Amino acid sequence: MTQALEIISTEHRSMWQLTVVLEELCKHCAEPEHKPDAELFDLILDYIEQYVERVHEPKEETYLYRAVLERSSEGNDMIAQFKREHAGTPDAVAGLRAQMQAVVRDYPAGAAEFRQALEDYIAMMRRHIMKEESDLFPLARRTLTDVDWDEINSAFADSADPSFGEQALVEFRARMSRIVNQAPAPVGFGLVAEKKPAAEDHPVLLAVSNLTSHYGRIEALRGVTVQVRQGQLVALVGANGAGKTTLLRAISGVQKASGGEISFAGQDITHMRPDQRVRLGICQVPEGRQVFGPLTVEDNLRLGAYTRSDKETIQEDMEQMYAMFPILKQKFRQAAGTLSGGQQQMLAMARALMGRPKLLLLDEPSMGLAPLLIQEIFNAIISLREHGKTVFLVEQNAQQALAIADYAYVIETGQTVLEGAGSELLVNEQVKSAYLGI
Ligand SMILES: Nc1ncnc2c1ncn2[C@@H]1O[C@H](COP(=O)(O)OP(=O)(O)OP(=O)(O)O)[C@@H](O)[C@H]1O
Ligand SMILES: [Mg+2]
Repeated sequence: MTQALEIISTEHRSMWQLTVVLEELCKHCAEPEHKPDAELFDLILDYIEQYVERVHEPKEETYLYRAVLERSSEGNDMIAQFKREHAGTPDAVAGLRAQMQAVVRDYPAGAAEFRQALEDYIAMMRRHIMKEESDLFPLARRTLTDVDWDEINSAFADSADPSFGEQALVEFRARMSRIVNQAPAPVGFGLVAEKKPAAEDHPVLLAVSNLTSHYGRIEALRGVTVQVRQGQLVALVGANGAGKTTLLRAISGVQKASGGEISFAGQDITHMRPDQRVRLGICQVPEGRQVFGPLTVEDNLRLGAYTRSDKETIQEDMEQMYAMFPILKQKFRQAAGTLSGGQQQMLAMARALMGRPKLLLLDEPSMGLAPLLIQEIFNAIISLREHGKTVFLVEQNAQQALAIADYAYVIETGQTVLEGAGSELLVNEQVKSAYLGI
């Protein structure tokens, strides 16, 4: 895809997220005693209005629409409609705002009409987004020349542009984060927390509650709540920079907690030293594979058991590792450095397991691997679960992680915003649009 279309698609995704937030708020307001939160609605309406007027409309109309209109008449009607919708945004938003203020003033009078107006507006936004992607983009790809694209792409890529360069990006990110903070707990980023406790019969091994953590003045974790039960495979998915690694580092103790609590097997470990946590049975396989390249696969595995003195069981465990990861058995005499990336990742996991941890923390095991190897890694993780290991898996690869997880959490800008069975999140519309690109 061309850079310009990618940028528009990304914008569409943020807008779509806002429609999801609005939809949730709509449902929320439908219940008695839920007067709309005027401040929150204002923030959202401001975002939409400012974005469409200052960023989205000028970008599309000045560059993309103009070029398409010059090359073909096929898009005339569609583009005329898009333009009317862009131009109508200030009035539409002002109308919703006035209605919302009236509802807040005379609650519950006018609430039903306001909800209807909001639903209509959401439907219009979604239609607009979908039609651009399904009809306008293909038309543009068909009709525009390389020269057209060069011009469009370079305009879109201009980071110094006052209306849609870096500055605007920062501003809208800040606006979005205010919306997220203002939204009621179950609506963080439009994602409704479905509190579905996991199989009650497994005891809770790890419980992180309302954890916060800082890098200097930056608050990287802003309230994370996660539970991992014995024998479960629990996944945490989230975008780049959401705080996944920071959370794992906080659990293993190399990153300080500034608030909240971590308990492990019923014991408060929030301020315990990392080495003590390792002794309790928490083992983290860090991001990027770290095996001892010159040593053989077998020696790497032995090293994983260095804290243990029971020689016979070490041999037994090696056999278990070979059963779980057959490829390691085939290569047990080879230098670890000669293994493929995926195989090294398996070795890193197996080595961690040799310490007989009670909880294995995996940080993006599929990162940087080719698709086929990614599949291999996920198969290996499934096999861990089948062998009764308790695993907390952090992944950007949401699709696969959710597909294999018993239970999963979504983290956004340092906060857990949604949870549920992996299979449920996989079909959850909000997760689909935000993380799975569907
Ligand atoms: N050493 C550091 N100093 C300052 N800020 C940091 C540091 N490490 C991470 N951060 C910030 O903390 C936030 C969370 O980062 P973290 O690495 O935990 O995210 P992540 O979800 O693991 O992302 P990725 O998918 O890129 O691995 C980010 O905004 C990041 O910029
Ligand atoms: Mg990370």
